Parts: sequence; C-alpha cells; structure tokens
Amino acid sequence: MKQLLLTLGLLASLSAPGLAPEGVAATTARGVHKAPYGKLPDGTAVDQYTLVNANGLTAKIITYGALMTEFHVPDRYGTLGDVVLGFDNLDQYVKGHPYFGATIGRVGNRIAKGKFTLDGKTYTLACNDGPNHLHGGIRGFDKVVWTAQPVKAKDGVAVRFTYVSPDGEEGYPGTLTATVVYTLTDANELRLDYTAKTDKATPVNLTNHSYWNLAGEGDILNHVLHFNADDYTPVDDTLIPTGQIAPVKGTVMDFTQPKTIGSRLLELNNSPRGYDHNYVLNGKAGKLRPAVSVYDRTSGRLLEILTDQPGVQFYSGNFLDGTLKGKRGAVYHQYHGFCLETQHYPDSANQPAFPSTILRPGKTYRTTTVHRFSVQSTRAPGATW
Ligand code: GLA
Repeated sequence: MKQLLLTLGLLASLSAPGLAPEGVAATTARGVHKAPYGKLPDGTAVDQYTLVNANGLTAKIITYGALMTEFHVPDRYGTLGDVVLGFDNLDQYVKGHPYFGATIGRVGNRIAKGKFTLDGKTYTLACNDGPNHLHGGIRGFDKVVWTAQPVKAKDGVAVRFTYVSPDGEEGYPGTLTATVVYTLTDANELRLDYTAKTDKATPVNLTNHSYWNLAGEGDILNHVLHFNADDYTPVDDTLIPTGQIAPVKGTVMDFTQPKTIGSRLLELNNSPRGYDHNYVLNGKAGKLRPAVSVYDRTSGRLLEILTDQPGVQFYSGNFLDGTLKGKRGAVYHQYHGFCLETQHYPDSANQPAFPSTILRPGKTYRTTTVHRFSVQSTRAPGATW
C-alpha cells in the first residue's frame, strides 16, 4: 500500500509538474542534488548539496564551511526527522554561530595561548577563545567557501569538498589542501573521509562539529550515551589539558556503561556547567573502531560513531543560551544539542606525550569517521536503562 502511494505520488509529481513545487521530486530521489543556497556579503555564491540514499535518508551540506545544515533520519515508526541543529538560511550562518554542522580546521579544538613550536620555530595564532586559539582561529575552515564535486561511492552517494588554505592563514605554516568526502551509504551511515596535504610541516586536526539531537527538539539530557573510553584528558579552567590521562571509572565522566547525559551532569563544577571534555578512546588509533553511541528512547533513534581518531570531544551544548533562533522557529537553549567531535587530543601541538598532529610534506593526512543510524523498537535488549 505504502509502495502504491509512493508510486502514485511520484507519478503525480512527474505528470503534473505545475502542481508539485519544482525540485521536490528531484530532491527525494536517490542521488546528489545541487541547488543555489545564497550569496556571501562579498557576492561569493554558496551551493547546497542534498544527498539522498536508497531509504530516503537525507543530508544537506553547503559549500560555506562544508557544513551540514540538515540530516533527516527515520524514527522507530519510519518517520523522517531532522536531527541536527542549524539555521534556515545562509545569512544566519554568516552572522555567526557556535560551529553548527561545520567542518573544523586547520586544527580543531584548543591550542594554549595560540602558540606552538615546530622544528625550532615558534608560531603565533589568533586567540579567539579567551587566552587560547580554538577551532582554527578567527576565520577557520568553518567560515570559508569550499569547492564541491559529487563523487562515486560503491556503497552510497557522495560529495567531495576541497579547500586550499594558504601558507600563513590564521598563523599556520604551509599551503594545506584539505578534502572531506561526505558519503551517505545505503546502510544508513554518514561517513566522513578527510585528507590533507601540505608543502610545509604543520599541525592538522580536522573534525565535524554537528550538534545532534536525536529527538529533533528539546534538551538532550535523557539521551543515553555509551563511550568506548576508559580515560579522558582533564583540563584547566580554560579547557586546556593538564597533560594527565585520567581514568573515568566511577567519576562523573564515566560512560563506560550506558547512562543518560543528564544523570550526573549537575556534579560538574565548570561554568557554564556541562561536558566539554576529550575522551581517550580504547583500542588502537589508526583503525576504525566503535567510539561512542547515543540512543534516544522517545524516537528510538540510535547513533553509533566509529572512528580511527585517538579521541572524541564530548560537548553537551553548555554555551547555548536561548539567543539563537534555529530552523523552523526552534530556540536553542542550553543542552539542546550535543557534539561528538572525533579528533586528536586538544593542545596536541604543545603536548609531546599526546599522539602527534604534525603533517609533513610528502605525507597524506587521512582519517575516517562513520555515523551509523538505526532504530530500536523498544529499549535495547538487556539494557538497564
Ligand atoms: C567546542 C568547544 C566548546 C565550545 C564549542 C562551541 O566543542 O570545545 O568549548 O567552544 O566548540 O561553542
């Protein structure tokens, strides 16, 4: 019956184009669809790429910031819902926002005091987060226009975004060519494959800063989180790691067993209160392995993240304060979205004991993160939550 209705609907939109808004049939068919998204104040055109997989899952990514504006996945009843925070139009993204959906670079997370020394030379970066450098600086990769090219994927539909960061940009050495391929697989995975090449040694740490809300709205405190991480990197009050790798066991940081994000959040004493910490993943970095999963009991949506990165920054939307008006009239209050930024540890450029973020000429930086979506009809079998 459902199939019949779908067929009728498709026929209607094909045979009576005047009745269906233009583009509707095009953007619901499996494939990659390009449309203009708007213009920057300097006149640069920005496009939006819509990826639709065989099951109707839809990801929309714009060339500004190689940033995902929408991601529609089914709930346990098969109803599609948008599970990322964002805006309705380019102007709001340009006005400024806390990295909604963006590709982050050249170095994601913080570099203490905006300084690092490499091969005997000290580099100075912009300090855009109190005393520190954050997410690539004042004009990071989230605020530039990337070029885009649909690419073939054996397991889904894909677009490659490319940005060439000039030597000295935001204080970093070397011309860096960065790419990120967004693939939406027919197995309901969103895969992010990054590469980078440089002509001078430079730190690199690319990630994605989507704010997820698997219920589509409201706070995320009842989402159930499960980390494959026995340790984390404790931080000072400017969120720079102390250098210690500390066990989470028994602490407020412990998600080695599934528990709701809100269950112990009030025990944190930071300001604004909430999680904004790097987890040290179990298993060998460089190999794709399960990192973290999140489950929303109301919708039944389950997100499992796999990565080859050594860490994940878990951020519970602490700085959201109700001042940003999002898509479809949403108001984003504290804890209305969470980020799981797969990455190297913060301030790695100044911490010799942490895995290195230095890329040298002749080498290629490569990393992959997979977001796997499914639903559970009820609570997970055997779950205690
Ligand atoms: C990152 C940081 C947070 C915050 C958000 C954006 O995740 O770790 O401290 O700056 O970005 O608000």
